[in-house]
Amino acid sequence: MCGIVGYLGDKNTKEILLSGLKELEYRGYDSAGIAVLQDGEFSIYKAVGKLVNLEEKTKEFITDKFAVGIGHTRWATHGKPTELNAHPHLGESSYVVHNGIIENYAELKQKLQEDGVKFLSQTDTEVIVHQFEKNLLACEDGFKAFSKTISELEGAYATLIVTASLPDTIFFAKHGSPMLVGVNDEDEKFFASSDSPLIGLAKEVNYFEDGDYGYVTKDELVIYNKNAEKTKPNFSQLSTDKLSAQKDGYRFFMEKEIYEQSDVIADTLIGRLSDEEIVFDEIDKNLFDGINEIKLCACGTSYHSALSASYMFERYSKIRCSVEIASEFRYRSPIMAKDTLFVVISQSGETADTLETLKMAKRANLKTLVICNVDNSSMVREADACILTRAGIEKGVASTKAFATQVTVFWMLSLYVAKLRDSLTTDELKYQIHLLRETPVATKVSDEIHEKIKRLSKRYLHGHGFFFIGRDIFFPLALEGALKLKEISYLHAEGYPSGEMKHGPIALADPELFTIALLPEHLLYEKSKNNVEELSARDSTICAISAKEFDKADDFIKINPCKDYMLEFFEMMIVVQLLSLEISIRLGNDVDMPRNLAKSVTVE
Ligand code: AGP
Repeated sequence: MCGIVGYLGDKNTKEILLSGLKELEYRGYDSAGIAVLQDGEFSIYKAVGKLVNLEEKTKEFITDKFAVGIGHTRWATHGKPTELNAHPHLGESSYVVHNGIIENYAELKQKLQEDGVKFLSQTDTEVIVHQFEKNLLACEDGFKAFSKTISELEGAYATLIVTASLPDTIFFAKHGSPMLVGVNDEDEKFFASSDSPLIGLAKEVNYFEDGDYGYVTKDELVIYNKNAEKTKPNFSQLSTDKLSAQKDGYRFFMEKEIYEQSDVIADTLIGRLSDEEIVFDEIDKNLFDGINEIKLCACGTSYHSALSASYMFERYSKIRCSVEIASEFRYRSPIMAKDTLFVVISQSGETADTLETLKMAKRANLKTLVICNVDNSSMVREADACILTRAGIEKGVASTKAFATQVTVFWMLSLYVAKLRDSLTTDELKYQIHLLRETPVATKVSDEIHEKIKRLSKRYLHGHGFFFIGRDIFFPLALEGALKLKEISYLHAEGYPSGEMKHGPIALADPELFTIALLPEHLLYEKSKNNVEELSARDSTICAISAKEFDKADDFIKINPCKDYMLEFFEMMIVVQLLSLEISIRLGNDVDMPRNLAKSVTVE
């Protein structure tokens, strides 16, 4: 996710902006830039890659007097990670930084281009500064021009604008993406996407609400709310610990990332859903020309999202789909048919085994696609096409939000292919898109469920193992739940198809064998219930997860009633993630950096 910083004052503006961006590095980025207005002159610096590249470019740049400045770390959504696409973006004599997605940027851009405006970048952000300057020319009042501009934007934004005609002012607006402003007794003003950059600089901060907009000068902080009413800042004190600030108050990054899933799924959907079809600007429809099979290849959690995808491709797209574990696939003598689209899935885009299979597919002249969370990674550069999951940087070694956004992208892709192959009716497509729009709600963590899981986790700190069981698309979710538990609690767990337990594993059933049973109401419920009753009859300790009351379980975690099994999938995903988190915390493990594991396995 992008990061924003802003500063107004007479300290070292460059250093304040760069160190602020450094504090936001954890949000993930692939380019960065700053713009400073000092003595009526703008200085602009941008760099692709890590912040050290930007620091190198600015090392001769001195800021030792009053200035206004804005800075940005960009996580590419529209347009590749290049210097041209890096923020801040320039109009004629104004600069803008922005976090979020302007959904109506295409129509704004077209009108501006018709007025003769030349665009330099492929980003949605650039329309903001050109629209502002168009309004400024018309009304010759900075704040009126800014207010009009904000009223014309649709989508999510946290944005800052500086303009040469008002060298002592920074305009701000917030809607859907976080931003706050900090003040102190030296009349300095600070902006950031989250509070860690302001620690040690600002005395108190105001977290903007959706719809807030306004401006700061040396003497003023002027805020208007979504009803265009002038409001007083709601100041609060800043925490003093930067690392806990990056965790935004959660105990671990993994916990924070579980709670972020609703927002990052919403980000993943932005710009890709219309009422009747899925839109992927980033791929050509001809990618699927001549394709009769989709082969998915990945490792670990990404393999589990691929397995989930296979059910959707065959059910919705009516296309043959096979799934491979990369470390196995690369040493077999696999048949690589030309009518197969080879898809690799990776959070990091650097996993050695998966990357090698991608190269194998390329050598066999197959069309290739990567589903990835890190733009400009090795797999993104290697594949013919790429769809980004927009989960933002995932710091917890145990993957959560990357998995959630991978499944979301696959759900959309299966519908995209269904449209191409005419395998779903328009009404069926509309229904699925309606469900997709409800997914961010389904992944909001319920305090009640989290508290329940915290309490019952104390019963699962021992035993001779866990089975996570599920049928159909809930089998890959069972595998994922088992992997989460293994990774961070170091307790043994297996994911298993519910219907397979009677073919051997049920021999393990006794009170010390814990079965986490996924019981979706809308998919094979009775079959799954029978499997659980077989285990319960043999005294296995059962924890059932369902929207329907189930009295044969020793523990029961009730999820919200859903209208479809896909929403049940995401609700149950939250539960199995939280269960592994709370067990691990009770065992005193390092949840974010479990023993023996790395966030990206770049070796064989
Ligand atoms: C997931 O919780 C694990 N950290 C691990 O299985 C991971 O999914 C696997 O190493 C693949 O990583 P990738 O998605 O970056 O390719």
